[in-house]
Order: sequence, then C-alpha cells, then structure tokens
Amino acid sequence: MFVVNCKNYEEIAGDKIIKFVKTAEKISKKYKVKIAICPPQHLIGLVSNSSIPIFAQHIDDSKIGSTTGFVIPELLKKSKVNGSLINHSEHRISSKEIEKLIIKLKELKMTSILCVKDIAEVKKYVKLNPDFIAIEPPELIGSGKAVSKEKPELIEKAASIVNGSKNKTKLLCGAGIVSGEDVAKAAELGSEGILVASGIIKAKNWDKVISEFAKALV
Ligand code: G3P
Repeated sequence: MFVVNCKNYEEIAGDKIIKFVKTAEKISKKYKVKIAICPPQHLIGLVSNSSIPIFAQHIDDSKIGSTTGFVIPELLKKSKVNGSLINHSEHRISSKEIEKLIIKLKELKMTSILCVKDIAEVKKYVKLNPDFIAIEPPELIGSGKAVSKEKPELIEKAASIVNGSKNKTKLLCGAGIVSGEDVAKAAELGSEGILVASGIIKAKNWDKVISEFAKALV
C-alpha cells in the first residue's frame, strides 16, 4: 500500500482535499492498489466517508470527554477514520505515549503506522506490534532524494528486523520519494509500501503521479 501524508501543504487546503482524495480513490480502484490518505487534521471530516482508508496525521493520548484541542482515536473512529500515523518526524512524542497509542488503536481496531527515524527505533518499537513501521531518515524528508536510492541498506536492514519478528508488523519506508522508480526500488528492498508527501502533493498533475506510484506497486 502507499500512504500519502498531506501534511499542511497549501496545495490541499480547504476543498482541494476533496479533489485529491477523489483522484486517489479512482486510481486505487483502477490499479487495485491500496492508497491511504492522511489529510490535515481539521479536514478529516470532509473526506472520511471515502472508499479508501483515511488516517490521521497525529493522535493525542487524551481522554474522551472534558479535554480540549486534542485529537483522540475514539472520536476519529466515530467519524470513520481508519487509523493514524504515530510519532511522525515532524511531530515526535514520548515512547510512553507511543506505547499507549498503539494499544489504544488496537483496542479500537484501527490501524497504527508508527514512524521511526533509524534502525535502533525499528528494533525498539517492533516489540510493540504496530500494524506498520514506517522508517524515514529525517534528513531526506522533502529533499527529493529517495531513501530507497540514498540508503538502500537501511530499508533492507529494517525489512529483515520487521519480517523476522514474530508479530504481524509490516514495513513502509519514506522520505524523498518522487518517482515510480523510487517506489519500485523500495519494494524490491523489502518494503511493503511507502509513505510519501511532497512528491505527490506538490506535483502539478496528481492523476499522473499517483498512477505512476500505483503502477510501481502492482
Ligand atoms: O510522511 C511522509 C514524509 O515525511 C516524507 O515526506 O516530502 O519526503 O515525501 P516527503
């Protein structure tokens, strides 16, 4: 599968997120590739009824009821959101919070995508059994230099740890991925899919670039 983190890019602000998700829906159906979208938090409700998985970019470990300004999985679930990124490089949280949030998503039967920055974190967090671990070297994020080309050994190593563990965690990788070739290379190195942002969101023709990525994963 591939996961598109829309971050807070201006290109998907307001109603533009609807057009983006519709484009991804169409391509997901056409190529039978699972595409998940993480819209900006405040726009989730606009697209959460879509036929493809919608994930939050971040969740908070906060309780239902009298709490203010937090995004909590229990309420996301009621809005048909399917899961969340946890601990993205641009929104890191403590290991205690990571553990609690993975457990909470599991209880709610929602998907967890735990972001990590290096092999030490893959080893540390695979034990928590998230659905996905997404490895992203921070220095390559937004660089246009793909992790699959710049650091192939990192993906191979992460894949051997994740696939060698007893649990069902799958590996994603991301940072700097901008072409179908980058995606195919990531898959070849053992990644089940990719996590991408600027390479898709900032592209002039969403249809073209999403199709190119999808075809690389068929
Ligand atoms: O969450 C995806 C991400 O951090 C990678 O960003 O722009 O390098 O695809 P980008």
